[in-house]
Amino acid sequence: MNRPIRIALTKGRLEKDTVGLFEKLGFDCTAIHEKGRKLILPVPDANLEVVLAKANDVITYVEHGVCDMGVVGKDTIMEMKGKFFELVDLGFGRCKFALATKKGYDFYSGYGVKTIATKYPNVARSFFEKKGMDTEIIKIEGSVELAPLLELADGIVDIVETGTTLKENGLEVIEDVAPISARLIVNTVSLKLRRTEIDRLITLIEENL
Ligand code: PRP
Repeated sequence: MNRPIRIALTKGRLEKDTVGLFEKLGFDCTAIHEKGRKLILPVPDANLEVVLAKANDVITYVEHGVCDMGVVGKDTIMEMKGKFFELVDLGFGRCKFALATKKGYDFYSGYGVKTIATKYPNVARSFFEKKGMDTEIIKIEGSVELAPLLELADGIVDIVETGTTLKENGLEVIEDVAPISARLIVNTVSLKLRRTEIDRLITLIEENL
């Protein structure tokens, strides 16, 4: 038998949702449930090997071909780009990128250059470039909602899921930027070399979404 197909999963919620999907497909995920601090886990009956990584690293490993496949959010794909095939929208991990400001703030008025805080500078830049709008983008590492409250930024481009974080901090969405969900990505060479196995797995996944 060939070496297992190696699939990198984004640690946390997408990992849990993917394991849920694998179990629906009848795969034995015991090793993942009992992983402790282990980062590479076998799914023996499916000839799969699961690698647990941070979202950005899932893309890096798949791009470099050390993982054949990966499960990662569209948010990370949009920010990092990269050379791989994005083959399946897995439907879970649904949320959106949105532009938000302090409640009632008239973002589009005035001529001054607006300042945007975000964890996703490439996503924010391309959103405003498409509008032909000059902005200053400031990269923030987390809790981006703080930036308008502290008057660092006029607005934020961030992930909105339930909207609770915005609401509890007196902010509101003024425009949707893009829908987000988990995607199955595949290394370009792996797709050629392991086509039959990858196609079989994708068909099985698509039948069970
Ligand atoms: C994300 C996002 C928002 C929040 C949105 O942050 O950046 O802050 O979740 O979720 P909601 O609409 O359901 O309230 P995350 O929890 O990943 O933390 P971080 O921003 O500190 O990285």
